[in-house]
Amino acid sequence: MSENAAKIRKIGILTSGGDSPGMNAAIRAVTRYALMRGIEVMGIYEGYRGLINGKNYIKKFNAHDVSNIIDEGGTILYSARCPEFKEREGIEKAAKNCRELGIDGLITIGGDGTFRGAYDLSTMFGIPCIGIPGTIDNDITATDYTLGFDTAVNTTMQMIDRLRDTCESHARCYVAEVMGNNAGYIALYSAIAVGAAAVAIKERPFDEDAAIKKMMQSRQAGKRNFIVVVSEGANLDAEELAKKIQAVTASHDMEIETRFARFAHVVRGGSPTLRDRMTAAKMGVAAVDLLLSGKTNMFMCERHGEIVGTDIMVANFADKKYKSTFDPKVAQKFDPSEGEKFNTKVRAEIDSLVAERIAEIDKLLALAENISNYTSIE
Ligand code: F6P
Repeated sequence: MSENAAKIRKIGILTSGGDSPGMNAAIRAVTRYALMRGIEVMGIYEGYRGLINGKNYIKKFNAHDVSNIIDEGGTILYSARCPEFKEREGIEKAAKNCRELGIDGLITIGGDGTFRGAYDLSTMFGIPCIGIPGTIDNDITATDYTLGFDTAVNTTMQMIDRLRDTCESHARCYVAEVMGNNAGYIALYSAIAVGAAAVAIKERPFDEDAAIKKMMQSRQAGKRNFIVVVSEGANLDAEELAKKIQAVTASHDMEIETRFARFAHVVRGGSPTLRDRMTAAKMGVAAVDLLLSGKTNMFMCERHGEIVGTDIMVANFADKKYKSTFDPKVAQKFDPSEGEKFNTKVRAEIDSLVAERIAEIDKLLALAENISNYTSIE
């Protein structure tokens, strides 16, 4: 047994950052499994803010505390974005509270900001932390999947399906801006699933004129409805694009009346799908196992269908490396020499992760494009 494993008698669990469907199922899985292993569980409310505030924000959980939540959206532990946790003072206070309450290790559920917090807590003050990726954006490079993505993209798809019904009746176009932060996954998946005429994401350039031209050709060939999906992070103003589509088509005497919709937080709610509940169960149990086996600074990833633990530093570097390939803000701060701290094998693993994400985006984009044709070559 490792030193850590011998120490872990009580764990804390929290959710942080933007909530996502499946977080409750993960809280339940962690709690029920840890209790089964004879470990005490403390529920920490409002993420890192709760850990800093201590006492009233922290409650001992029994099996009943997580009853009937597996199908609920949101998070029973509530969530918050906590700027104080970026400062040393805040992190120190959180670590002190862990010690006072006898919390030997933490399971944190959230996105990349949540893991950076866990990393600081663990490296600066020695509190073992394991992360579970929970964000609708699916934007953590080291994992193929983040909790909540499937539910959010299904909700987005259903909402666009409804728009298409009315677009068909009125022969209109709808530009739908979808969530996803700077990642185009929700946009790409929903565009493919609804058969969108075009999709714009941050990761790749978008040719507005070519998209409008294609729509006009399709209209000439008899197509009535058009859906254009724009990821919120794309380098264009989706509302302006809607106006442009109408103006340009009108100037060619084939006006396509175009409306705009923004699906924001509504896709972050709702009951998690089977995919999200299954992933929550698998990652929840694996996270407890990792913590009890003495691991720290890891976070749960799904890779090619398998649940594996990845070192947070490796995941963080892979994330920056991938995002620097398309996001100028990340590129500005990215220092490739940081990768030198990893051995050759780990560096190769990071490069292969980055290459995989690049290929994945291009494949999805090509798929969306290949099924969006209305005209055919005679
Ligand atoms: O990360 C999840 C997410 O919903 C993103 O898709 C979106 O950009 C952001 O959070 C919205 O943040 P907030 O809830 O703080 O408005």
